[in-house]
Amino acid sequence: MSEKSFVITPTEHPVSDADRARLLEHPGFGAVFSDHMATLKWTSDKGWHDGLVGPRRPFQIDPAAAVLHYGQEIFEGMKAYQTQNGGVVLFRPEANAKRFGRSAERLAMPVLPTELFIEAIEELVRLDHEWIPTSEGASLYLRPFLFATEAFLGVRPSREFTFCVLASPVGPYFSGGQKPITVWVSKDYIRAASGGTGAAKCGGNYAAGLLAQAQAYDHGCDQVVFLDAVERRWIEELGGMNVFFVTKDGKLMTPPLSGTILEGITRDSILKLAAEQGLTVQETPYSYEQWKLDAASGVLTEAFACGTAAVIVPIGVVRDAAGEFTIGNGAAGPVTETLYHRLVNIQRGVEADTHEWLHKIEILQPVG
Ligand code: PLP
Ligand code: COI
Repeated sequence: MSEKSFVITPTEHPVSDADRARLLEHPGFGAVFSDHMATLKWTSDKGWHDGLVGPRRPFQIDPAAAVLHYGQEIFEGMKAYQTQNGGVVLFRPEANAKRFGRSAERLAMPVLPTELFIEAIEELVRLDHEWIPTSEGASLYLRPFLFATEAFLGVRPSREFTFCVLASPVGPYFSGGQKPITVWVSKDYIRAASGGTGAAKCGGNYAAGLLAQAQAYDHGCDQVVFLDAVERRWIEELGGMNVFFVTKDGKLMTPPLSGTILEGITRDSILKLAAEQGLTVQETPYSYEQWKLDAASGVLTEAFACGTAAVIVPIGVVRDAAGEFTIGNGAAGPVTETLYHRLVNIQRGVEADTHEWLHKIEILQPVG
């Protein structure tokens, strides 16, 4: 089917070229937005309808909208990159679309077909391609999300939803760029339990993690590490990233997909790249106690966090209420650095895309 699902209505008041250039210089993370957004509605009687890519503007929703009371909301995070030859690509968008579908099922929401998910993103990126920053480490972060709009206070799945995609030019997630971060191991709070929503990318997971994240900041840390809900012993993931461990004998370990952690697309890509590099890759439970012992004995040489926003960032120091320890000499290690460069080089079209992870977007240049 070649018919478009989205009506395109460009803004009559775009940000000027000069202002955009200034905003793209140091965008930070998540604070600058492009001119447009994509929206699509769903109702139980009409299904998906009213696709639009138009000016970015506030929503009007009823104060009784279910999302405001019961938090029925899911989201995704992905990036559009400018490749070294000037093309524009997405990284594994089908994987984001599939995960969005799994999150929707878990939150009793309608599943958006993969083609519609990708079409919305493509149309938005086409219209706002001038917002893709070209400096090193920068990209256009895309935030698709779906939320319940039915005005009804009874507790049941909503019958009306709005899907939206925002585009935000971003630099590195952490203020220190790809420099090693310090993480805070939360002993007070957990993120997810078996049977809960840990594997879904829903707003509620992040709301529930904010107090632990605030404690991390209070202790001078960048991110919080969550332990499992049952034994409070096994490392799960960070508030917004998956975690990997590297041993001196060439083993790369990450916690298994137990249903309580997010199935990171960066995590999956790293597992594949590392195996190709000859590392012994293990998806295995790893305890906080063992992490400490292995760091002290030198068995563990590196640890890093990974995700779309963070890419790959070394963990330098691990802290909890009782003390702290350093990983290796606290600096970025060679395995972390090699994986970072390989991933970024594939995303930028510098290294061959042997896994067919890149999804090219044709940008139609205006005539004249
Ligand atoms: N874990 C959590 C809780 C996240 O929020 C993210 C970020 O999306 C990740 C892991 C990494 O997932 P991905 O690599 O797909 O961005
Ligand atoms: C992402 O990496 O896309 C996320 O959603 C994580 C968040 C910390 C921004």
